[in-house]
Amino acid sequence: MTETAYASPALIAPSPRGRLLIGNLHDFIDDFLVTMERDFINHGDIVRYQIGSRIVHVVSHPDYAQHVLVEHQRDFPKVGGNGGLQIIAGNGLISNPSPESWLIQRRMMQPMFHRKRLAAMGEKIDAAGARMIQRWQALPDAATIDMDHEMLQVTLDIIMQTMFSADMLGEVGKLAPAVTAAVDYANYRIFNPFSLPLPMPTRRNRAYMQARKVLDSMIFGLIKQRRAATEPVGDLLDMLLEAQDAETGERMSDEQIRDEVLTIFAAGHETTANTLTFAWYLLSEHPEIRSQLQAELDQVLQGRAPSVNDLPNLPYTLQVFKEAMRLYPAAPITGPRRVTKPTQLGGYDLPLNSQVIVSITNLHRHPAFWENPLQFDPSRFAPNANQPRHHLAFMPFGAGPRKCIGNNLAEMEGALLLACVAQHYNPQLQPGHQVKPEMAITMRAKDGMPMFLKRR
Ligand code: HEM
Repeated sequence: MTETAYASPALIAPSPRGRLLIGNLHDFIDDFLVTMERDFINHGDIVRYQIGSRIVHVVSHPDYAQHVLVEHQRDFPKVGGNGGLQIIAGNGLISNPSPESWLIQRRMMQPMFHRKRLAAMGEKIDAAGARMIQRWQALPDAATIDMDHEMLQVTLDIIMQTMFSADMLGEVGKLAPAVTAAVDYANYRIFNPFSLPLPMPTRRNRAYMQARKVLDSMIFGLIKQRRAATEPVGDLLDMLLEAQDAETGERMSDEQIRDEVLTIFAAGHETTANTLTFAWYLLSEHPEIRSQLQAELDQVLQGRAPSVNDLPNLPYTLQVFKEAMRLYPAAPITGPRRVTKPTQLGGYDLPLNSQVIVSITNLHRHPAFWENPLQFDPSRFAPNANQPRHHLAFMPFGAGPRKCIGNNLAEMEGALLLACVAQHYNPQLQPGHQVKPEMAITMRAKDGMPMFLKRR
């Protein structure tokens, strides 16, 4: 008897009903956050989607995340090309699908994120926070601000200062919309295999090319300036300029450096900004938790500005940031992974060359791992919290070798900015404003976050 005769029949994971030819395309491009939540409730921890000829499984169980991202990560490399972030970030650290060249990049950039260096970055974060508070002090009490824009501005200031020693605060008005447009474009292309190629002058393609021009001009300008400098500064840009291929001794081209700079610039500020925006929303809706946060700040800081050295004494502040990441993870899904060996997961077949996405949002709200999953409760992250959990039930920064390189920086920055604002202000959501999370690679507030900036 042949081997095929013994093989078990294909076990196809549950799937929402698709449409002729396009399959589940509408589920992906309509509102993917809603789709993921709906299908998790209806079908469970593993759901199969068909988009044209592409098969994608969305998984929502920490054991499956462990399988794909950690234990068998070699069999699940990142998807490249049109199906991944490569569209905008080229072969930058986050989007490079080649495990071999990715490892060289990661080793080269890792020292920048070492704890010792982070402490020095803390001072730059404090300074950027102080600049924001100074701007706000010029506003009348309870002025209306776009909190999402304010958070993007401060985190953009921080990423440029800490990684590239550049002051770009004056350029925020141009850069922030360009990042948003580029990320929107990548989101559209990743989820829509029928999108027209870049050279076609569609409205979307033209908008992206315009955004790319703005970003490239900023980045190539930085590279040119630094190449002309006589003294090294010792930041990430210097590291990239000095990096040499171990075998050939070759240095990186401007285009390679551009991809890395764009990656760190985009991945390193929008994510933290969006988390903080949702944290202010949650605190506005839960004044009792805000009071608890402010009690900690008042007791530890006694009115002075927070610094990185205060963080070990501000555990509740970090808990608030973590709980905001749990409910509104800035990266709601991992990047798609390609199945390079046909295998089974959760008893279902994952065909060769199909894709797997881990739903971080569903993991963070999984009722088997979280009590009252929708409740905002920072005490879940208290050191003495009596809640044994699967170690991947909370994974805002991903897992395995391709886990976020900036996780410690993000937590430090998030806690410091929470402290520096909550110390002085009670930001209050404008009454009647409907907060609607949307996914465009990152999770953000669809119609912004208008808030009254009330002084304490
Ligand atoms: C709250 C803030 C942040 C969140 C929630 C977040 C989340 C994530 C997640 C989930 C991944 C893994 C993606 C995957 O497996 O497909 C990732 C990767 C990455 N993140 Fe972050 N991130 C944050 C902040 C930052 C910061 C501050 C930086 C840089 C300064 C950064 C740079 C990167 C890079 C370069 C990667 C790719 C790592 C690799 O593939 O080796 N992120 N991030």
